[in-house]
Amino acid sequence: MGSSLRRRRIVSRTALPAAVMLLVGGAVAVQSGTPAVAAETTLRAAAAKAGLFFGTASSPNRLYPILSQEFGQLTPENDMKPDRIATSSGGLQNTSGADQLVNHAQSNGMVVRGHTLVWHSQAGALQGASQSTLNTFIGNAINRWGSKIAYWDVVNESLEDNNTGRRRNQWPHTMNRDANGDGDFFDAGDTDVIRDSFIRAKQVVQAGGYSTKLCINDYDVEGLTVKGGGPNRKANALYDIVRTYRQYIDCVGFQSHFNDNPNSIISNDLQANIQRFADLGVEVHLSEVDIDDDLSNNDIGAGQADNYRKVVRACLNVAKCTGITVWGISDSESWRSSERGLLFTGGNGNYQKKAAYYAVLDELNKGRTTTPPTTTPPPTTPPPTTPPPTTPPPTTPPPTTPPPTTPPPTTPPPTNGCTATVSLNSWTGGFVATVRVTAGSAPIQGWNVQLTLPSGAAITNVWSAERTGTSGSVQFSNVNYNGSVAAGQYTEFGFQGTGSATGLTPVCTAS
Ligand code: XIL
Repeated sequence: MGSSLRRRRIVSRTALPAAVMLLVGGAVAVQSGTPAVAAETTLRAAAAKAGLFFGTASSPNRLYPILSQEFGQLTPENDMKPDRIATSSGGLQNTSGADQLVNHAQSNGMVVRGHTLVWHSQAGALQGASQSTLNTFIGNAINRWGSKIAYWDVVNESLEDNNTGRRRNQWPHTMNRDANGDGDFFDAGDTDVIRDSFIRAKQVVQAGGYSTKLCINDYDVEGLTVKGGGPNRKANALYDIVRTYRQYIDCVGFQSHFNDNPNSIISNDLQANIQRFADLGVEVHLSEVDIDDDLSNNDIGAGQADNYRKVVRACLNVAKCTGITVWGISDSESWRSSERGLLFTGGNGNYQKKAAYYAVLDELNKGRTTTPPTTTPPPTTPPPTTPPPTTPPPTTPPPTTPPPTTPPPTTPPPTNGCTATVSLNSWTGGFVATVRVTAGSAPIQGWNVQLTLPSGAAITNVWSAERTGTSGSVQFSNVNYNGSVAAGQYTEFGFQGTGSATGLTPVCTAS
């Protein structure tokens, strides 16, 4: 596949003169000095104000002042990978580059993402290791930096290319066993490198009392759909993994290397996909962003700056999308320099801002949305059906009722009802609907939502609910983690479909 070939290409770089390798002491002030309403002038400050981090990947030979001025988060581009730091028995070696990056981030108030513990690529001496050796390495790496690492990519790129929705057929995933042959690795008798690595990582974090959050990271998982509108099976497989192992997984990275590959498109449903992962309770990050400046087929924006704007906006619109990391500072120093996918040009610390930079800064400065999407139809209050009384009040006194023999019921038990509202994100030929289920004055233990799709509309994908039917009258019921809703509180599920879905009137019943 073109994409995997491009992906594996290793970009060679010239060494930088020692004189430019340097510096930096105290934290960099990023305040504009103008009133609070003024736009921030760095990505770092604008993102912080919006409540997320904006970071980049870097290396020890690229610790230029601009790094900590513009970016509030740092991912070692290569210095924490197993081929750099792991021994064949799961010990650590050559950590000086990683240490330098962590120390630099610490002294400049930057968040660190550790990258990465379990990966089929750049595995070095760990290549072919057993789960037990992987576990040893996981323990050593997490313990070396402890809470200095805010997020660790525990498992990277576990899913196959070409939208199959399957695990990779490569070490370490060849250690997986599907004991009952049901097509997944989720059952008690199964062996699953993802599960076992996360369990180990969680144990180490808990034993050490670290604040580190544990992430799963992958590419081509960004949209709900791939080019042509079919389902993104790789994204769906990742979703199933996160849902199943939610107790060990704290965060999900969508790498977001957007290029001309049909599975790596910037789709209109990027936000909806971020939202469905967020609805599982995990943080979502766009963890390795670069956007080819010549997306011949896959643009949703008018050129690279506009595409960046749309990607950043999709994250900002989801509260649990808590960080964006671009995969390098400058095009010429990028692993995919020929795509010119980053925010700066130039080299060796002498960087110039591109149009894409200003688009991202502007979008970050707008902040997160606080109002519901404009496509949400306003709630329609039905007109009163009973006309005002025209008959005069009765003049005869009402008949006296005999005293009750049984005591009247005291306050009626609160009704455990629910209401449902839909917000729609539509485009020509398709839509994503987000349905909010709100409990009434009493808590509910389960819910069911019925609605009727207009003719021609059909559901292709559902998340956070079980579904019956794909067209016409369809029903959704809660899944095990979102049936219980406290009084007055809400939960959300979503579905995607083809055709048009305007005018939906959901009916909610609770149990
Ligand atoms: C890339 C680096 O940018 C290159 O310098 C290196 O030669 C190969 O790896 N997905 C990942 C990253 O998770 O680790 C990869 O980084 C890019 C794709």
